Amino acid sequence: MNKNICVIGAGYVGLVTAACLANFGHNVFVVEKDPTKRQSLIAGWLPFYEPGLAELVGDGMEAARLSFFGTVEEATLQAKGCEFFFVCVGTPAGSDGSCDTSMVEAAAHDVALFSRPDAICVLKSTVPVGTARLISGQNPQLVVVNNPEFLKEGDAIADFVKPERVVLGGSREACERVQKIYGPLVRNDHKFFLVSHETAELSKLASNLALASRVSLINQIGRLSQALGASIRDVSAIMRTDSRIGTRYLFASLGFGGSCFPKDVLSFVRQCELHGVDPAFARSVIHFNESQKLLFIEDILKNVPKKGHIALLGTAFKPNTDDIRDSPSLAITNTLAHSGYEIKAYDPKSNAHFFNWIMEHKIPNVDCYDVMQSAVEGASAVVIVTEWQEFRGIDLAMLHSLTAENCRLYDGKNIFSRSEAEAAGFIYMGTG
Ligand code: UGA
Repeated sequence: MNKNICVIGAGYVGLVTAACLANFGHNVFVVEKDPTKRQSLIAGWLPFYEPGLAELVGDGMEAARLSFFGTVEEATLQAKGCEFFFVCVGTPAGSDGSCDTSMVEAAAHDVALFSRPDAICVLKSTVPVGTARLISGQNPQLVVVNNPEFLKEGDAIADFVKPERVVLGGSREACERVQKIYGPLVRNDHKFFLVSHETAELSKLASNLALASRVSLINQIGRLSQALGASIRDVSAIMRTDSRIGTRYLFASLGFGGSCFPKDVLSFVRQCELHGVDPAFARSVIHFNESQKLLFIEDILKNVPKKGHIALLGTAFKPNTDDIRDSPSLAITNTLAHSGYEIKAYDPKSNAHFFNWIMEHKIPNVDCYDVMQSAVEGASAVVIVTEWQEFRGIDLAMLHSLTAENCRLYDGKNIFSRSEAEAAGFIYMGTG
């Protein structure tokens, strides 16, 4: 049966959740307190890029199942009461690695004020272990259920409608009520875990730690592979045939970025510290990843003259998103620009965010271009950070003809082989 659902926060998680729940047939009332963002959503403009999401939001609005409000009070008035409140607000990392849950606490407080007595507050934001109990303690009248999200940017809608699992944490009765919202997934036999608050909260952090460690694992092997003259592409391909190892998250890179892995691994470390557990393993993942982002720097400083410029291809932390948060492109740009290099950057989607970042951090000698050719023409080195399809399709001979003499190609995602890059005339370095 269709429900009235209030989704608090129209960021990445909130908007995907709201649009998909509306697509399941529910009436979804989204609360976004930023008036500019809210107005742009009402006008049909999304504040970020995610494939298929604009269409889904448009469909929901056209069917009058998706609407936007400034406060929980306004949304619940319009809905004449909501049974479920999905809290999808940010939990930014503090400098000590702890997650700032103040926005979650404020949202839950609003829910407690404006919800009916049988309402459930569903925590979708990624929170430290113990947050659901903290919220329940602060608002004894609230029933709280964890429902951590496992969406990947760029694939978020598919991940929502065809999840490998849905995790619900809290009392059995409350979890079963939330499960009913996901009727289409129950009918299609998707796996549900109904567990305790702590298990749900830890499962989210643990999953991201596991994936982030795999990326660091393959990058560690990549470094040795580089030193030995072995091929990390082949080493990884061989490893991936072993079903015990599995096939995914074993592609060498300049390290993981984004708004989730770095923050969640840090949060895991913090949780260990708080509970007297040695976080050596998780801490080493963070430490290793930071150095991986700068893998090419030593070679660039040694071999690339400062009189030319460096073309940076890809600033988003991965393809199919315009998100640059914690992207290796930021660490690379910061280091090279402050070492006196001129940088010409191009990304198919994230130029605006990257430009704002340059301005905000006063990074010298960096320009953004709307066309790849403008960034590449005359470059002394080309650094590929993001494996956009557009870059995979590059004709290397053509690229080489645009660049300066003795141009070096730094392939941060190993999208080309050494032999084809060298055949086109580049001096090549990959990530292993
Ligand atoms: C990640 C998780 O995959 C989601 O399950 C989770 O819901 C989400 O975080 C979250 O916590 O919200 P996301 O940050 O969108 O999703 O990105 P991923 O596709 O997982 O990639 C993360 C980083 O690892 C990227 O920088 C990517 O380039 C890198 N990566 C991934 C590699 O370097 N090599 C690989 O083989 C795979």
